[in-house]
Amino acid sequence: MQDQILPLRLGVNVDHVATIRQARGTNYPSPLTAALISQAAGADSVTVHLREDRRHIQEHDVMDLRSSLSIPLNLEVSAAEEMVALACGYRPQACCLVPERREELTTEGGLDVLGQQERITAAVKALSQVGTQVSLFVEPDLAILDAVRATGAHAVEIHTGRYADAENATERARILESIGTFAMQAHAVGLKVHAGHGLTVENTGPIARIPEIQELNIGHALIADAILMGLAASVARMKNLMVHTRLSSANPVSANGGSARSYSAI
Ligand code: PXP
Repeated sequence: MQDQILPLRLGVNVDHVATIRQARGTNYPSPLTAALISQAAGADSVTVHLREDRRHIQEHDVMDLRSSLSIPLNLEVSAAEEMVALACGYRPQACCLVPERREELTTEGGLDVLGQQERITAAVKALSQVGTQVSLFVEPDLAILDAVRATGAHAVEIHTGRYADAENATERARILESIGTFAMQAHAVGLKVHAGHGLTVENTGPIARIPEIQELNIGHALIADAILMGLAASVARMKNLMVHTRLSSANPVSANGGSARSYSAI
C-alpha cells in the first residue's frame, strides 16, 4: 500500500455549554446552538457526554443534536447497561465508551478493558447492531491492545490527559512517545485511532503530528477560549443596548418627581 497522509478531524465537545446552562437552571446557553456554530465553523463531528448523574448534557440535548446536526454525533457514555441501552435508542453515528465515577470532575483515565472485557464487549455488540461506530477511551498501554480488538470496537480514543497535565518537558516527551507508539500499533491492527482530553492550542501540535491519529475530541479549552474571545463583543452589545435605550427614553427625571410615566415591559 502507498504511504498516505490521513486527514485529521476535529470533534467539538459542547458539554460545558450545558454546564453553564445547568449552573443557573436556565434554557441558555444552548448546546445545540453551540454545536450548530461549531458545524458551520468546520467541526467534523460534535461530542457530548451523557453522564449518569446528568450534570451537564440532558437526554433532550442528545435528541435535539441527533435530529439537527448534519455532521456525525459522537455520544460518550459509560458501559453501564442502562446507559448503553439509552445510547442504542439514539442511534448516534459514533459512541465512545468511557469510565465514569460520580465524584470525578471529568473523565480521569482510560477504560479498564482487561477487567471489564465482558461488559465492554456486550456494549460494543449492542451499539454495533444499531449501526453505531464504537470507540473505547483508553490509556496508551500496549498491554490492552489485544483485549481492545477482542471487544470488536472500531476505534480507540487515546487519553491525552496525562500528556496535557505532565509536570515537566521530560515527562511530556515520554508520554507523547507512548501515545505515538500506541497509535502506530493500534492502526496496524486495524483500529481507527482518535485522541482527546486536556488538549489546548498550546499542546495539540505534537499530537496532531502523529500520523495514525484521525480524530481529536476537544471541549474544555475550546469553550474556555470561546468565552474569552467572545466576551468583548458580548459586553459591547449590552452596553450599546443600554446607552441607546436610555437616550431614546421618553421618561426624563423630573425635578419635582411625581410626573406621569409609562413603563414598558418590552
Ligand atoms: N474525550 C473524552 C473521552 C472525554 O471524556 C473528554 C471530556 O469529556 C474529552 C475527549 C474532551 O476533553 P477536554 O474537555 O479536556 O477537551
